[in-house]
Amino acid sequence: MARGFFITGTDTGVGKTVVTAALIKAIRLLGLKVCGMKPIETGCLKSKLKVKSSKLKVKEEVLIPSDGMFLREMAGMNDSIDLVTPIRFKNPLAPLPASEIEGVPVDLKVIQKAYRELSKNYDVVIVEGIGGLLVPITKGRSPFETPYFVLDLAKDFGLPIVVVSRPGLGTINHTMLTVNYATKEGLNVAGIIINYSLPPEGTLAEDTNPEVIKQFSPVPIIGIFPYLEDLKSGTIEKAAVKNLDIKTIKKYL
Ligand SMILES: Nc1ncnc2c1ncn2[C@@H]1O[C@H](COP(=O)(O)OP(=O)(O)O)[C@@H](O)[C@H]1O
Ligand SMILES: [Mg+2]
Repeated sequence: MARGFFITGTDTGVGKTVVTAALIKAIRLLGLKVCGMKPIETGCLKSKLKVKSSKLKVKEEVLIPSDGMFLREMAGMNDSIDLVTPIRFKNPLAPLPASEIEGVPVDLKVIQKAYRELSKNYDVVIVEGIGGLLVPITKGRSPFETPYFVLDLAKDFGLPIVVVSRPGLGTINHTMLTVNYATKEGLNVAGIIINYSLPPEGTLAEDTNPEVIKQFSPVPIIGIFPYLEDLKSGTIEKAAVKNLDIKTIKKYL
């Protein structure tokens, strides 16, 4: 299996996709062949694409995963989006309710198959999770079984975890909850990346949070990723080189 990371966050919208792209860029500069994967994406837009069937050119409705497409572009991949994001839902929900509403079960085997395929062709796979660790993906098979959460998906990938968190007030609790729970559940947490998904507010909390997290977290902060005016490939790459702790990241590769 390829090496890589599983990127989770303290919440949705914290910057997992941007940080996943930054890690792809930083690791590629180490001379490794890197790809991105967003195994499950919800909130996909419907688009009509011309698809070649055996004889006719038919228009088929497909769901476009924006995170998957972005990661594929950032990694410069030519692979089918079905490998990057094999499971897609229209509704912007956690996978379990989306799958129930849309009447399509989540087939975990499809994810593992796509991952094996990518692992054959790349040295490193950077996998973006969905939401946080306790987002449900499938129901347990019996009422006595707990659901399959993102945490379980992370365990099945078997990759070290990176936790993306917000910089401002409230992040100490959210970051510690995520890191400590992941560790308690036996995941290997490589570190935390604090990401500015919005311009800095210049608050005292933003200034002091990294020190407090450093003091109490069992894992290191491996980057404070800045707010970027644009999310172009070159801008993300430069910021990745400048702001990520490549030495620590390299230890896991
Ligand atoms: N470092 C950053 N600089 C600028 N915009 C960012 C940054 N990080 C995230 N964003 C923006 O914040 C929003 C949420 O980020 P995203 O990476 O999609 O979060 P998640 O994947 O955790 O849901 C997006 O609109 C994204 O473009
Ligand atoms: Mg995302």
